[in-house]
Amino acid sequence: MPLPPICTTFEPYFLLSDEKLKDIVTHFKDEMLGGLGEYGKDVAMVPSFVTGVPDGTEEGTFLALDLGGTNLRVCEVRLFGHNKFEMKQQKYKVSDELKEGEARVLFDYIADSVDAFLTEIGSDISNNEPMHLGFTFSFPVEQTAIDAGKLLTWTKGFNARNAVGNDVVKLLQDAFDRKHIHVRCSAIVNDTVGTLLSRSYQSGPSLIGAIFGTGTNGAYIDKTRTIKKLGESKIKEAEAGGEHAGEFMVVNTEWGAFDNGRHCLPISIFDNKLDRESINPRKQAFEKMVSGMYIGEITRNIFLHLIDASVLFDGYSSKVLNTHYGYDASFVSGIEGAKSDEEVKKLIISQLGVESKLIEEDDIEIVKWGCRIVSDRACKLAACAIAAVVQHTGNDKVPEGEEDKGVEVGVDGSVAEFLPNFSERVSEGLASLLGKEGGKRIRMGLAKDGSGVGAALTALQAKKAMDRRSETNSSFVPGKTGLK
Ligand code: BGC
Repeated sequence: MPLPPICTTFEPYFLLSDEKLKDIVTHFKDEMLGGLGEYGKDVAMVPSFVTGVPDGTEEGTFLALDLGGTNLRVCEVRLFGHNKFEMKQQKYKVSDELKEGEARVLFDYIADSVDAFLTEIGSDISNNEPMHLGFTFSFPVEQTAIDAGKLLTWTKGFNARNAVGNDVVKLLQDAFDRKHIHVRCSAIVNDTVGTLLSRSYQSGPSLIGAIFGTGTNGAYIDKTRTIKKLGESKIKEAEAGGEHAGEFMVVNTEWGAFDNGRHCLPISIFDNKLDRESINPRKQAFEKMVSGMYIGEITRNIFLHLIDASVLFDGYSSKVLNTHYGYDASFVSGIEGAKSDEEVKKLIISQLGVESKLIEEDDIEIVKWGCRIVSDRACKLAACAIAAVVQHTGNDKVPEGEEDKGVEVGVDGSVAEFLPNFSERVSEGLASLLGKEGGKRIRMGLAKDGSGVGAALTALQAKKAMDRRSETNSSFVPGKTGLK
């Protein structure tokens, strides 16, 4: 079926040529370098103070808290060594009132949830010491230590007052202390860092941990020396084995904010509308094209435009279609995975609330096309982010005389998990960017529950540092990732 001519006016914003993708990668690498060199950049390149990746032998039981995805999760993680772990977890809903209210109320709620977890589920951690908790806090935080960092900005629909600029660990610890809950927040970790650690714990050393979920972001291992903004004395201290020991450090890129300056991303009228109506206009430009919170909303904007032009559903809309964030990325995944047009029609009726009699064959084609172009663009852009990190670290080439071990990437998040053929589509993008062979070297694997396991592993590292054990006794092994 030929598309209505109106579609061809905006389709080019979604069909990205190889040239365009390469241009995006070039900008990406520039912004990464900018963030490593100076504080206050959009792509913040946050040093995590995690100085290596685990090797799978780590043991211990820790609490983990995960804020930043769809739900708040409290977990107890038991690391058995031998790459194995077990996790008890409980999810708690975070209402819009909590997301947009006073930060103190939000953190009190988090502390209460930990208390409820310990009471209801019980914990195997039993001694008189405070329990060590790793806090996966999946927002941009300028970290100054493994257990300290200020919130730079909220993302993903959170906007709680009096949090930005404050130390997130302190906000949480104060809430525990106010409520006399015997828990010590000993580490703060981004979900991408957690994913990188968790993937390394379970499947061997990895270079990148990436989230394609409600939001998107990536963490990777770099030479500490490359993080120029730390300053020469801190870098030297790190290299000499001081407080922040290590030649390598995990860097949380915060790539969701890539191209906030709008230099290269293909911004269509639908992206502009989404941005204008969001609670964080002109922020998270890349995230707004790639992640699960926005993929559905972009298609909704496209469909409304076509309804208003009377080329879709005979010009009739529905309550769901007329509602801001009326449906989410699961609709797009459903359409992409549908085996027949009949199934697509059923989804349009059940999830978009469009009346059956309004849905013609052409409408089905347009809905499939809309979901396809939006999700294809998301996958190609995801490939750009990964390719940029691989090139930045020099891992696009095999070091001379060394065995080619490839590059391991741990991914997590609802888009990675549920968008049909996500990893194949990203791999295709990687092949366009790095060549067929280059693309094949990059192995992506789902690192489910990275947030929980990663938080536990970081809490372990922090506890070891606290116990004043020397770094050499730690089983964290820096630099085993093919980094040169
Ligand atoms: C946040 C990141 C986070 C990502 C994935 C983004 O909105 O800024 O810190 O890693 O979402 O959860």
